[in-house]
Amino acid sequence: MIFWRVKSLDAILAAAEKKSLPRSLGLWQLTLFGIGAIIGTGIFVLTAEAAQKAGPGMMIAFIIAGFVCAVAALCYSELSSMVPVSGSAYTYSYAVLGEFIAWMVGWALILEYSVASSAVAVGWSGYFVGLLSNSLGIEVPYSLANGPFSGGIINLPAAIICVLVVGLLVIGTRESAAFNAALVTIKITALTAFIVLSLPVANMENFQPFLPLGASGVVAAAASIFFAYVGFDAISTAAEETKNPQRNIPLALIGSLVICTLFYLLVSAGVIGAIGAQPLRDAAGQGLMPGSIALADQCRSLIAIGQQPVVCSREALAHVLREIGWEKIGNLLGLAAFLALPSVILMMLFGQTRIFFVMSRDGLLPEVLSRIHTRFKTPHIVTMVTGIGVTIAAAFLPVGKLADISNSGTLFAFMVVASTVMLLRIRDKHRHRPFRTPAIWLIGPLAISGCITLFLFLPTDAKLVFPVWTGIGLIFYFLYGYRKSHVALGIGRLTGNKNITEPIQPLSDCHENKKP
Ligand code: ALA
Repeated sequence: MIFWRVKSLDAILAAAEKKSLPRSLGLWQLTLFGIGAIIGTGIFVLTAEAAQKAGPGMMIAFIIAGFVCAVAALCYSELSSMVPVSGSAYTYSYAVLGEFIAWMVGWALILEYSVASSAVAVGWSGYFVGLLSNSLGIEVPYSLANGPFSGGIINLPAAIICVLVVGLLVIGTRESAAFNAALVTIKITALTAFIVLSLPVANMENFQPFLPLGASGVVAAAASIFFAYVGFDAISTAAEETKNPQRNIPLALIGSLVICTLFYLLVSAGVIGAIGAQPLRDAAGQGLMPGSIALADQCRSLIAIGQQPVVCSREALAHVLREIGWEKIGNLLGLAAFLALPSVILMMLFGQTRIFFVMSRDGLLPEVLSRIHTRFKTPHIVTMVTGIGVTIAAAFLPVGKLADISNSGTLFAFMVVASTVMLLRIRDKHRHRPFRTPAIWLIGPLAISGCITLFLFLPTDAKLVFPVWTGIGLIFYFLYGYRKSHVALGIGRLTGNKNITEPIQPLSDCHENKKP
């Protein structure tokens, strides 16, 4: 029975002990790694979408999404401190809920990481196009900078940045800790500048009406803006490379989340206060759907007459600064996003290859996918296969739709993590827990119900993608993984094909463009 195909926690821990990844990441590096993965398109771009769904109520949306992430992070912390190995939610569920659920989680994580990469690429494209126009006077034709859902043909800059990042990953470029710290500094500086310049000119009247589309608009915005927090779980994927993971992983997870939530609240207050954030409506008075042709059309008509509300901007924060007279700083903020967002794409895609690697090491995916390049020592095949999908999605889909689809996979994974923690408390009461989720019987159900609620408030198309994707995954599992699973075949973790047991570059590796 597939539910009984579990990996023993002791075996996972013993195997992890034998592995060769050096433990070199400390609390500070790990927190910066978390912030580096978290701050991206969500705050720089999707603030406009949140405003379109909730108006000034988007501030509450940020709190709701942050809260759901915080309770999920507390659950993540208990598991990742108990099982400090690679593979994140996939590995935890393999040990507790069995192979079938683990497969579903791993498959959902593909949706999270890959689609998130595409979303961030589309967000980057908006800033790139804006920067070219505002700094250099170069106009990229609308049809070549927008996919068909936004009234264009193809988002060429988004596709190009995906290809470039995939290329970097194939040749083994990794972000060194120092490089990540530099990019985090750039992002934090940009957001701080935004807060410092926008809050003092805030007009309190802009906060009224506070809930133009009601409470349901706020929860819908929370479901989308949840994307702005995605990435904190990447911290747990680094568990095998962390010093004292039992202490540092939970602290870094919660720490990075708290820091980002504070910034998000201040930034959204700055946007609303500075230029207002009321949604655009159709003739019947209903809020237009972000990412829809109708909204794109209304935005284009407004821009044609020299008005651009924040909900129409593809570079929301830079736009606000320009509107309040800080043209040059707005361009610099655009430059910061231009420089920093590709690293979020890189991290997401890297997280993806790690999940594939572990799933393939377990025999659930074909070995060829995680074959390691002899010269670059990277899983080049899986990186390129993922890269093709990510590039196509970025070229044709709007940022909001991509973020929503990514959220659907993430919410599922978080829900399983919370269930796993509760189940382990019953089944394996006496195991040492370096970090215990406080009040688990409150926090666990809150995490699960929070994830379910946000999922239900996602737009219908995003909600539909998830079951379709899961269905494809199940077909694949029963045709392949079910029969080839190393657990089922009794193959030890480290006795598989040589290609998939070779260590791949560790996260802490400080080489860039590693040469053989
Ligand atoms: N949280 C990340 C972002 O907003 C994925 O770009």
